[in-house]
Amino acid sequence: MYFIANWKMFGGLNSLNSLHKVIKFFKTFKKNRFAKIIYCPPSTLIRPMTKKLKLTSIEVGAQNCHEQESYGAFTGSINPSMLKSVGAKYVIIGHSENRAAGETNKIINLKIKTALKSNLSIIFCIGETLNEKRKKITKKILTKQIQLGLSKIRDKKKIIIAYEPVWSIGTGLIPKSNELSEIINFIKKKNRNSKILYGGSVNSKNISELKSINNIDGFLIGGASQDPKKFIDIIKKTYN
Ligand code: PGA
Repeated sequence: MYFIANWKMFGGLNSLNSLHKVIKFFKTFKKNRFAKIIYCPPSTLIRPMTKKLKLTSIEVGAQNCHEQESYGAFTGSINPSMLKSVGAKYVIIGHSENRAAGETNKIINLKIKTALKSNLSIIFCIGETLNEKRKKITKKILTKQIQLGLSKIRDKKKIIIAYEPVWSIGTGLIPKSNELSEIINFIKKKNRNSKILYGGSVNSKNISELKSINNIDGFLIGGASQDPKKFIDIIKKTYN
């Protein structure tokens, strides 16, 4: 199971102190289980976090990247090889917060291709809005996001897909178990080699319900991942 922490635009150098608890917990916990933790902090923390996690099996990823492979005049942007050079092994691409800010499926596709060239693994986010859910076009939207986002990408081994319904992110709402299981299966059928995660308001209370959906390969966790106690609780309960 994957546990990916998406810190979004939260955290300074002092936030790295919270990692100690997680490092200590994970050292003994992971012995008999396949569990993978990946932290995706703001870019400013990638380097110091990588150093802090050096002797552990916890990995680090970025939250977005630019689609151009080489350096360029793009104020405020960072390309995948720059992320790689400071220790990132993964990058989140297509998060709904960036889609809402104008990131199109086409740009997402370019970003994924460039990041793969730089040898990063991808956490590719897809999900429908509340309006799309109400219109009952969730599957149509997901199909389009997958088709366009992964267009002309043959080797999908390094792509993890995170299904994150937009209406569940940061709202405390999660999909009904049977509906979520059906959607995960639907995505799996289209992407047989990819791990499929769920994201959106995952917390230490609803994890018991979520973990019983047995086709989910892990979770992308926002808010709850910033608190080491909550994050550890989620991991523990997933295996209980
Ligand atoms: P949340 O965020 O867990 O705070 O809902 C998840 C995400 O946006 O990846």
